[in-house]
Amino acid sequence: MKQYEKLQALGQELKDSHQGPMHVLDVGAGHGAEEYSPFFAEIADHYVGVDPDEDIIQNKWIDERHHMPAEDFAKKHEAAVISGESQNFDLATAIYVWEHLPNPTEFLSSVAEVLRPGGTLLCVTPNGLHPFGLGSKVLAKFDLTDKVLHKLRPDEIDHYHFPVVATQNTPKGVKKAAMEAGFSKAEVTLHDEPEVFMPYLPQRLHFLPKIYSKVISLLRLKSLSGTLIIKLTK
Ligand SMILES: C[S@@+](CC[C@H](N)C(=O)[O-])C[C@H]1O[C@@H](n2cnc3c(N)ncnc32)[C@H](O)[C@@H]1O
Repeated sequence: MKQYEKLQALGQELKDSHQGPMHVLDVGAGHGAEEYSPFFAEIADHYVGVDPDEDIIQNKWIDERHHMPAEDFAKKHEAAVISGESQNFDLATAIYVWEHLPNPTEFLSSVAEVLRPGGTLLCVTPNGLHPFGLGSKVLAKFDLTDKVLHKLRPDEIDHYHFPVVATQNTPKGVKKAAMEAGFSKAEVTLHDEPEVFMPYLPQRLHFLPKIYSKVISLLRLKSLSGTLIIKLTK
């Protein structure tokens, strides 16, 4: 199964066990993505998006747009819940957002605030123990991310780039941040899909992620997989 298929399977499981209208929030929604936005739009009775980036204005899948960080949205939403204009969410997603967070615990606390008790947050993020995750961390530390991305993905960087800080994006870091933020359960699935990393490499090096994947599978080093698929329960 591919990463977005696993994400959708988790979403479907939650939908199947949910009774009544489903309120879904996409945190860091951006302009949305074909790979997951139509699916969540389909299972949601009300689909809300939050993002400090103005791309959210173009997100065609969500019913309600909030152009601000999750931390500000949590405060605004609390007031709307108190006045009866809104209600807390059953499900939130943060897809390829974690690696951009300087303070994951603060972010998760804000998401926890807008979820109902028993509500779920699903995240997908690169594993900080994979060479891609480690490389991103080193590049961010030396402020070289833009330079390297400019070389590898010149078309993308000008209109689609968010600073990577890659804090605590390891299974242990995720669980620690989730508990600090008030979630009661944290489940992290390690997923390895070479195709995810190929676009970051020149064509002639596209074989590398495939070899890497085979090697970690042979040596049973699952902890070095490329992606974390995260399910946090409040
Ligand atoms: C790599 S993009 C992913 C966008 C979309 N989820 C997707 O998968 O195509 C990361 C997004 O996270 C957003 N983001 C970063 N920090 C955030 C925060 N504190 N609250 C909400 N969104 C945030 C960025 O503005 C950006 O749109």
